[in-house]
Amino acid sequence: MQRCHRELRLIRFSFVAALALGLALAAGCSKKEEATRPAQPKPAATKPVVQAPEPEPLEPLPLEVHVDKDKVLLGRQLFFDTALSKDGTLSCTSCHQFDHGGADPRVVSPGVGGTQGAVNSPTVLNSALNFRQFWDGRAANLDEQALGPVENPVEMATTFPDVVQRLEKKPQYVAEFGKLYKDGITKTNIVNAIAEYEKSLITPSRFDRYLRGDKGALTPLEKEGYETFKSVGCTSCHVGQNVGGTMYQKMGLVRDYFEDRGHVTEADYGRYNATHVEADKFFFKVPTLRNVALTAPYFHDGSAKTLDQAVRTMGKYQLGRDLTDEQVKAIVAFLGSLTGVLPPWAKQDGSFGDAFSADGSTLTLPVAPATPPATGETAGEKAVGEKAVGEKAAGDDSAGEHAPPPDAKGAEGTHAP
Ligand code: HEC
Ligand code: HEC
Repeated sequence: MQRCHRELRLIRFSFVAALALGLALAAGCSKKEEATRPAQPKPAATKPVVQAPEPEPLEPLPLEVHVDKDKVLLGRQLFFDTALSKDGTLSCTSCHQFDHGGADPRVVSPGVGGTQGAVNSPTVLNSALNFRQFWDGRAANLDEQALGPVENPVEMATTFPDVVQRLEKKPQYVAEFGKLYKDGITKTNIVNAIAEYEKSLITPSRFDRYLRGDKGALTPLEKEGYETFKSVGCTSCHVGQNVGGTMYQKMGLVRDYFEDRGHVTEADYGRYNATHVEADKFFFKVPTLRNVALTAPYFHDGSAKTLDQAVRTMGKYQLGRDLTDEQVKAIVAFLGSLTGVLPPWAKQDGSFGDAFSADGSTLTLPVAPATPPATGETAGEKAVGEKAVGEKAAGDDSAGEHAPPPDAKGAEGTHAP
């Protein structure tokens, strides 16, 4: 990651260099830094050379995760419990709403007593796949992250000793913590259970099917959008399994975003707030783009109301490109294909069905639909149009509708590469 930072700073003065960024970074800054592009065929080769296909910068989600069933259940209870806030008004879901892709439709979320936060709430879905947590990356993992909101004065505004006291009054919690943890209800165990639940919130999408070889899973427009997403350079930053979440990058890499927007706040300093290194100013964790069609408004400042607008802003400030209407339309369609299936167990009373292995240690993730919601390109466009945000939610419908089909286990075969 260090290396990538340096590369970027060195070349950001040049527009042309910025366009070359895509190639430089795709080779050098992906999660697996050691991975390099396959060598070009030598012109003088005597034998016919079969060129290996370009490695995809994006990777499919896993088919299963290893989590402890009882801890997931306990964590889920905590995630939905307002006892984690000072006055019993807020739970984690107040700001991470499954009807909105695990994020908050408000620009900033009100905390206890209506105090306003400084940044837009990111999604909790697939957050286990991010290399760090928070916009500025100040938490190393989900356990560490969950320590934040509970004691944050503009969020749940309480203290862990108080939370422990409140939970100890509920016999159900005493029994469950007692069963799973030697030392019962503690701060460490509370965040551990919440993190375990969050690890189960993985949302496979049609795009994952596509990456695994099911070429019919995307509409022609979505495919065009994916090709555009790669060719204009979005994948120099939005890479890997989570289509982001692998590195920090400057917001406004090739053009000053903050000068154009105005009113710079402390929150805009991003990574700098965690490191106090001047060169980290305005750097943010590159966010995941999974379920992004549902998580408006966009950016740490919640300034982009629509996906269309966010994509244009990215083109302008990160790549120095004025994307054409066609390019934007195709990219937005592609991003819509990243809307995944919300696992039925995400919801408070949702069932695991038979997704857990008998020993409760391996969770089979839901299977994404094989084909786009309706037929052809029109559906692809419509599905992710501005009006659809929040409409066609991964979390909008009843858990039942998103439940894996009865033959989910058998259907796994269709996922094989
Ligand atoms: C009052 C609103 C609010 C509440 C309540 C809240 N969050 Fe958040 N959450 C946010 C905001 C805002 C951020 C981004 C903060 C930042 O990056 O500085 C965030 C960030 C996160 C992230 C990091 C995601 C990423 O990609 O970096 C996770 C995970 C998360 N919250 C989980 C939780 C859990 C678990 C709880 C309950 C214990 C919770 N949140 C309660 C607003 C809230
Ligand atoms: C140089 C790195 C870089 C490139 C290139 C890049 N992005 Fe981003 N992207 C970021 C960062 C950093 C953020 C977070 C910025 C912020 O919140 O202020 C972001 C945020 C986003 C968001 C908002 C996500 C959310 O949840 O708020 C979208 C959508 C997005 N990018 C799409 C794209 C598209 C499409 C392209 C190509 C046209 C692209 N990005 C190119 C780094 C990049």
